[in-house]
Amino acid sequence: MIMDGNGRWANQRGRPRTAGHIAGARTVRQMVEHARRSQIRVLTLYAFSSDNWSRPQDEVDALMRLFRRHLAAETPKCQENDIRISVVGRRDRLSPELRRSIDAAEEATRECQSLHLRLAVDYSARDTMVRAAASVPPGVSMTREDFATLLASVNHDDGSAGDVDLLIRTGGEQRLSDFLLWECAYAELYFSRRMWPEFSTADFDAAVEDFRARDRRFGGLSRQVAAARA
Ligand code: IPE
Ligand code: IPE
Ligand code: MG
Repeated sequence: MIMDGNGRWANQRGRPRTAGHIAGARTVRQMVEHARRSQIRVLTLYAFSSDNWSRPQDEVDALMRLFRRHLAAETPKCQENDIRISVVGRRDRLSPELRRSIDAAEEATRECQSLHLRLAVDYSARDTMVRAAASVPPGVSMTREDFATLLASVNHDDGSAGDVDLLIRTGGEQRLSDFLLWECAYAELYFSRRMWPEFSTADFDAAVEDFRARDRRFGGLSRQVAAARA
């Protein structure tokens, strides 16, 4: 999910952008609970892109504070509900305190299995690809699977999430903004006009319903895909 529209939601109400991020954090909790109930196995939330560092410093600081506070508060609830937390992206530009909260959340929920909740922080798909490509020794040939494993490894990711099935973006924009470019090669894209703070569980269900009706062919024919699944 690309959680977009917090700032506009706040502006429409004459409030500061950070009020939108606080409201957005409530939506995160609702969506995680709903994904767990709906038996979704992997949910990846785009929380902060590498390009988001270019925002005003007070907004960046507020986002980092919110992120740390929510990680600490939600970790015990995730443990109780069998939700594994992982954070994907670069860590070297995050504060030591935030890095410690991430390590603690990942460690505490390592064995949880019902839902894998991935938070993308300081994430850039293009930087990921550049860093992965740079780590391939000259002359080494790679399969797509090998490269996918490498992409995961440069982002503190164990690679278990695999390709994206359904990508949902709120906020009305119809673009990927450097999110999971490799993993979305055959993703179904769903764009909602709702701003993230007002995205509801009914909206989430509508996106999943829409996804279920799609005909995914992966370059082949529907009947081949159906036969491979059977
Ligand atoms: C998404 O909402 C949250 C982050 C990018 C951190 P925005 O902050 O991008 O909100 P808009 O798009 O300006 O409304
Ligand atoms: C994408 O939203 C990043 C996150 C939701 C974290 P942006 O608001 O940063 O993307 P653009 O600038 O509209 O492409
Ligand atoms: Mg935005």
